[in-house]
Amino acid sequence: MNNDPLILAIESSCDETSAAVLKGTMVLSNIIASQKIHEKYGGVVPELASRAHQVNIVPVVHQALLEANFSVQDIEVIACTAGPGLNGALLVGMSYAKSLALALNKPFIAVDHMKAHVMAHFLHRKEMPKPRIEFPMLCLTVSGGHTQIVLVESPHSFKIVGQTIDDAAGEAFDKGAKILGLPYPGGPMIDKQAALGNEKAFSFTIPSTKNYDYSFSGLKTSLLYFVQQKTLEEPHFISAHLNDICASFQWTIITYLLQKFKLAIEAYQPKSIALAGGVSANSMLRMKFAELTAAQGLDGHIPPFEYTTDNAAMIGAVGYFEYLIGRASSLDATTTPRLTLS
Ligand code: KG4
Ligand code: ZN
Repeated sequence: MNNDPLILAIESSCDETSAAVLKGTMVLSNIIASQKIHEKYGGVVPELASRAHQVNIVPVVHQALLEANFSVQDIEVIACTAGPGLNGALLVGMSYAKSLALALNKPFIAVDHMKAHVMAHFLHRKEMPKPRIEFPMLCLTVSGGHTQIVLVESPHSFKIVGQTIDDAAGEAFDKGAKILGLPYPGGPMIDKQAALGNEKAFSFTIPSTKNYDYSFSGLKTSLLYFVQQKTLEEPHFISAHLNDICASFQWTIITYLLQKFKLAIEAYQPKSIALAGGVSANSMLRMKFAELTAAQGLDGHIPPFEYTTDNAAMIGAVGYFEYLIGRASSLDATTTPRLTLS
């Protein structure tokens, strides 16, 4: 068994078609084709996502192999996202990956997308040393579909200690942006506008939830009522105060995320902490997380931007650790749209 196999990884759970080639945890290529088609609908349209994956998958894999300077016959392991995600979108990647594994007679590994966001911390490029991560690690995973505090005891042991009971943090950004008339995806737009605004200009109530759980749907509704009320008094309220609204709304989301995460750190006493998922690209969250890391005197890991939003390299990282312990999936494996860490 090769301890550093050449892995082809595929991700197609939502609106990014991605393929990566890895040598162990070293990323040789990580190609991401984002689907612009959804912008005009203000959110991901599942059927359009599946069709775009079908168009993109062959050229994206081709490009990943080309950039890594390997041919498909050199690949030793094929890893692909099985879930959670949009079923039609997942099916495109899974069918492609399983067919390739069958044709090449190589092991196939079905990957949990939420584990992959966490395991992105083990990735490195050629010129970089292997990251050293101490377990147990407590990871705050914040994406468009999930918000989880995960206790990671090894590359094979994941325990959710807190999660959202309704909307995800990324969804709060996306829905908030939609209310403000900003395009999808809303997170990067709110981040950008917020940098120009005053976070203390308006105040939104921090949701109250039990233990280490979150709830974001009320926050989105309070933004809606707030702007509706203010617009009655001042018709151009949103455009006149956009930066301050974004800054105040973002401040509330980030403060809430880190308040709960800090409580979980105190309860679980991890050796290291980490951020993961699309929302970990947020500049304020990255800054406040670094401050929290310093204040707690812990080893803290913030992902490089390339591995924050959906990408195939992170799928390859999970594939690698599964392969090391001889765990491969059957070619009968199906998509698992509702899978949560197992
Ligand atoms: O992890 P991801 O790519 O997809 C899922 O697995 O859901 O996360 C996408 C989410 C979207 O909600 C997007 O608005 C959010 O990540 N996002 C951000 C930023 N960049 C992406 N949210 C806040 N600030 C950002 N800079
Ligand atoms: Zn994701």
